[in-house]
Amino acid sequence: MAAQILSGDDVARQMRREMKEEVARLQADSGVVPGLAVVLVGDNPASISYVTGKEKACAEVGIRSVPHKFDADLSEAALLALIGQLNADPAIHGILIQLPLPRQIDESRVLLAIDPSKDVDGFHPVNLGKMLIGQECFLPCTPHGVQQLLLRSGVPIEGRHVVVVGRSNIVGKPVANILFQKQPGANATVTICHTGTPDMGYFTRQADILIVAAGRPNTVTADMVREGAVVVDVGVNRVPDASRKSGFRLVGDVDYAGVSAKASAISPVPGGVGPMTITMLLYNTIRSAKAFHQAA
Ligand code: GUN
Repeated sequence: MAAQILSGDDVARQMRREMKEEVARLQADSGVVPGLAVVLVGDNPASISYVTGKEKACAEVGIRSVPHKFDADLSEAALLALIGQLNADPAIHGILIQLPLPRQIDESRVLLAIDPSKDVDGFHPVNLGKMLIGQECFLPCTPHGVQQLLLRSGVPIEGRHVVVVGRSNIVGKPVANILFQKQPGANATVTICHTGTPDMGYFTRQADILIVAAGRPNTVTADMVREGAVVVDVGVNRVPDASRKSGFRLVGDVDYAGVSAKASAISPVPGGVGPMTITMLLYNTIRSAKAFHQAA
């Protein structure tokens, strides 16, 4: 039987419809328009494309996005000064610093400077620490998007064996943490594989749900997947393709053709996790705006 497609496009569309109504209600009731500062340093083509997607999505649901775009030679001091201004700006509820940053800027110092109550990416150590101990916080967007994609596609997570491939700070580590919490929609048994794992297939073949965030095409092939497993491909890799006007196409970390013949469900690239990441950013920004104005 053909694998169910875990369509991030469809789930994101539905969630954004709900959010658009929520933003309109918030504005009608309290005059508040959620505001997101979008900071881009340099001209990395993938980063430009992500930022454009985020700005378009904000417009779609009625969030005011405020761009701050700089050349690649911006100093760390100038970026820290901007973050200080944004932290103090009552019309800004979320601050997004698109990563990676140029070499002269220390990423961890920049993330630490963001007010945790405006850290809608969920990258500040305070939010990551709260996530670890199961307290309310902003969850990082891609891992939270993976969880929502599974749940809203009817894939139960509780009690299942989730195997994560990859241990990055923005996907592997947080997705494992979110899914093993003793909470509804989580409570899974989680195994994490990484570049130090010998015979990765031994572990991935035990997965009920396999989440792949390795950053490398064809990291997971059909022989590494159990018949009937659910596979979520978080990878976004540009591979040269002369037949495309752009000169490239996007592929994930999973050999889609081979694995989709074995999986019971699989997320495509593009159209899988990508739109969910952006949607959870909108979700965090709206939550932040509501919290800010309830507290005021
Ligand atoms: N770079 C790659 N993914 C992300 C993300 O989710 N947020 C930010 N800010 N930068 C990224």
